[in-house]
Amino acid sequence: MEAFPKLDPRSFLLLCACALPALALSFPFSPLDNYLLNCGSSVDAVVDNRAFLGDAPGSGGSRVLASTRTISLNDASPALGTPQIYHTARAFARPSKYVFEVRDRGTHMVRLHFHRFDSSRVELGDVRFHVLVDGYVVLSNFSGESASRPVIKEYLIWVDAEKLLVDGGKLVNFNGLNRQALEVSYRVSVGGPKVTPFNDSLWRTWVPDDAYLKSTYGSERVLFGGRIKYQEGGASREVGPDNMYNSARVIKSTNATVPNINMTWVFPVTGDYKYLVRLHFCDIASISLELLYFNVYVNGFLVSKDFDLSRVANEVLAAPFYADFIVEGDNSGILSVSIGPSNYSFAHAIDGILNGVEIMKLNNSMGSLDGEVCGGFILKSWPRGNMGVVVPLVAVICLLLSISVVMRWRTTGVSQTVAWTKLPTDMTELSLKQARQQFR
Ligand SMILES: *[C@@H]1O[C@H](CO)[C@@H](O)[C@H](O)[C@H]1NC(C)=O
Ligand SMILES: *[C@@H]1O[C@H](CO)[C@@H](O)[C@H](O)[C@H]1NC(C)=O
Ligand SMILES: *[C@@H]1O[C@H](CO)[C@@H](O)[C@H](O)[C@H]1NC(C)=O
Ligand SMILES: *[C@@H]1O[C@H](CO)[C@@H](O)[C@H](O)[C@H]1NC(C)=O
Ligand SMILES: *[C@@H]1O[C@H](CO)[C@@H](O)[C@H](O)[C@H]1NC(C)=O
Ligand SMILES: *[C@@H]1O[C@H](CO)[C@@H](O)[C@H](O)[C@H]1NC(C)=O
Repeated sequence: MEAFPKLDPRSFLLLCACALPALALSFPFSPLDNYLLNCGSSVDAVVDNRAFLGDAPGSGGSRVLASTRTISLNDASPALGTPQIYHTARAFARPSKYVFEVRDRGTHMVRLHFHRFDSSRVELGDVRFHVLVDGYVVLSNFSGESASRPVIKEYLIWVDAEKLLVDGGKLVNFNGLNRQALEVSYRVSVGGPKVTPFNDSLWRTWVPDDAYLKSTYGSERVLFGGRIKYQEGGASREVGPDNMYNSARVIKSTNATVPNINMTWVFPVTGDYKYLVRLHFCDIASISLELLYFNVYVNGFLVSKDFDLSRVANEVLAAPFYADFIVEGDNSGILSVSIGPSNYSFAHAIDGILNGVEIMKLNNSMGSLDGEVCGGFILKSWPRGNMGVVVPLVAVICLLLSISVVMRWRTTGVSQTVAWTKLPTDMTELSLKQARQQFR
């Protein structure tokens, strides 16, 4: 799990004492706040060049575990090939906390890894628990999901960003992201192979778009072997890696007519939440500047008409650009993104492109990403004492410059690793301004 908490100066002072040294990374991007924990273990584990510190007493990561009476679990027969971090887990018999000192203001990323396995120490029944991060409910009545495969949940706490809101087809400025938690629902590299954490400076996974593309009819994939030209003010590598930007799907005109088709991707979503849709563009397909114009639709609304990628990318080909939109999840249960030729599109040219999509769920008015119960209520309703009573409940992670993880005993089998990095907040003013102009 990765989290981006907002820094509270008071907490900052308090928590300084439990800071872990920033890890030396082999990547040029090294976040000031970076915590990686190998939960339930007394040894460190290295995954993709990152050292996950054991959190057992005496280990490098033990200082952040602020609770006692937790249980270390060991998978006696881990599946071959599963990373070492999934071979151990920490189970919690009562609300428990991890507390991380955060030195850098801004949005942070919290990534939680869960993996159920059989353990002789704890019976893994119908375990349910809640997880809070920085006061936000991120998981409620969670079971750890699939027994066979590790589950990774990723959250961002976004601070001080101004966004565009798609509201009934109209675009309005949206300033409501100042105190937000977001859950990454989808992270897709369009037209290319899966991008693994090894090839992403923030260790993200970008899955191929095939499962979400409505129809392959009328579009084609493009792979680019050249250099992605990151621009000052545009997207950075922390916004999206080369391997995502160097593939795309395009609409191409091969004769004297501009094709009258859309490329459409659909994503299952839960209604009752707002979603941030981040679209990544990089013109790796046109032979020259100012030949590519297209329309962008989100949930059927035209959110960008005659989009001119050359202009927003500072008149440079292969320069990445991204745009954010906020949409209401509706009762249809899907969120759709379409790209289609515009009235300005040229024949014998590329007439639509998309390189990547990210869809993030915004917390609801209860401050929750998973249900209609607020964090305060969960904390209050946690039964005190008498842990012998079986209550189908609770795990909490609070992130207020600190993370607390509260999990119920028998929750077990839940392996959890915590990683902290600074957010890809390179949604720079410039690119936002450009986006705003573009979409006005
Ligand atoms: C968890 O599930 C129980 C029983 O289904 C329900 O009463 C409770 O409200 C749920 N809690 C949360 C926080 O969703
Ligand atoms: C990283 O990307 C390169 C191509 O850019 C690819 O050949 C390699 O297999 C990737 N590595 C992993 C671990 O995904
Ligand atoms: C152009 O190509 C498309 C598909 O390749 C075809 O459907 C269309 O009829 C062609 N138009 C002309 C004018 O040849
Ligand atoms: C493309 O999608 C938009 C939004 O759903 C729709 O209005 C438009 O008619 C579509 N165009 C084509 C050619 O299907
Ligand atoms: C394209 O031009 C036609 C005719 O001028 C107009 O009716 C239509 O609304 C335009 N479509 C878009 C998406 O701008
Ligand atoms: C998310 O939670 C914060 C604080 O709990 C709240 O101020 C904000 O309005 C919530 N967001 C939405 C979209 O309801």
